[in-house]
Amino acid sequence: SHLGPRTRTRIWYLGEGVLRAETNLYHIMTSLAHGGLPSVLPADILAELKETATKLCAPSKGFLAADESAGPWLRAGHADAKQIPDTAENRASYRSMCFSTPGLSDHISGVILHWETLFQKDASGKDLVDIIKEGGMIPGIKVDKAYDKKGIWGTPSGPLGHPEVSTRGLDDLQQRAAEAYKKGARFAKWRNVLQLDPEKGLPSDLAIADTVHTLARYASICQSERLVPIVEPEIVPNGSHDIAYCAKMTEKVLAAQFAALALHHVYLEGAVLKPNMVKNGLAGPKADAEAVATLTVQALLRTVPPAMPGIFFLSGETALDEDNEEIATINLMTMNKLFKDKMPWHLSFSYGKALQKTCIVTWLGKDENKAAAQKALKARANANSDAVRGVYTPGSCPSVGVDGNVKQAARSEEHTSELQSRI
Ligand code: 13P
Repeated sequence: SHLGPRTRTRIWYLGEGVLRAETNLYHIMTSLAHGGLPSVLPADILAELKETATKLCAPSKGFLAADESAGPWLRAGHADAKQIPDTAENRASYRSMCFSTPGLSDHISGVILHWETLFQKDASGKDLVDIIKEGGMIPGIKVDKAYDKKGIWGTPSGPLGHPEVSTRGLDDLQQRAAEAYKKGARFAKWRNVLQLDPEKGLPSDLAIADTVHTLARYASICQSERLVPIVEPEIVPNGSHDIAYCAKMTEKVLAAQFAALALHHVYLEGAVLKPNMVKNGLAGPKADAEAVATLTVQALLRTVPPAMPGIFFLSGETALDEDNEEIATINLMTMNKLFKDKMPWHLSFSYGKALQKTCIVTWLGKDENKAAAQKALKARANANSDAVRGVYTPGSCPSVGVDGNVKQAARSEEHTSELQSRI
């Protein structure tokens, strides 16, 4: 070359400098993507998690929680629905009917499945997962293995009639998450349960510590396998406490939850929260929708970082004289109507019972009711989309109401053992 050796060395240093500057920039960007936490996941996984989370949080859309371990009709809280035989065949037939509802993806971004459903087919032999995908929705998978009612030794019995509990399923979660991803799941759900009792000091610090650690560990494992985790620390409404006690404890639990997620390097931009709404106990002094909305949003604003893209409520159990579907929609609508401009996240629904009750009672296990049942599901999903936009008109969506109401099974733990073997 016509360049002398010293010039060549200078050019080499220059090139090396540019390369180093680029590498540094890459590291800065990657660690920025982690919100400053040590980098633990490669950039392509972060990008995929963020993309999935963004799709799940599409404007006015929410989740259909279809991950009940037994037939959803057992939890719907309706006397007639409870008569439908709880067989694997009926579960597949009901769920394929739901997932193939025309236009469901106008309101539903993701469908949470039970492990059994992930591998089920409809009557024509089509994978249920494919029905969901072709319908324009994202399949998700419930990966917790519920809890043993024997609970955490040394904790008192709460309003559910058993001690505080610890959720199972971490041991083989890494493999199960990978398997679920391979089958088409792109997000996951794990639920931990906390009970309230002001006199007994529930939830205890021990139960809160166990809950938030378990959920954070689950979330980090799921993210490593490219699944967006739904983090669900659920305070159940059973008991006679007032709404203020629920507000105080919800805030305490959520603050602890986000500290644990940070400790476990969870990438907030690629995760979503599924909390309880702040409400009075089922047997406590009644708080109206405005109080529920105000105290729920206040607890969330104080604890949930804006980096997390979405919050999706469970509907939860209601009193026997209440219409659980309508109440869940009105509460969500009130929050978005009063506070939309103040909230940095997508505030939406991940309802099980509150999306399916009228649908199930319309279906009642009969093929000839399919079109009407789909219409009912579509209408309820639409009502909740309206609630996300803060515009639902109470009473405008047909519901079976409180007719035939029976106690809802909070989560049929008694049915999980039979199905556990399939997890
Ligand atoms: P709900 O039936 O209370 O809406 O519950 C949904 C859910 O998935 C709870 O984990």
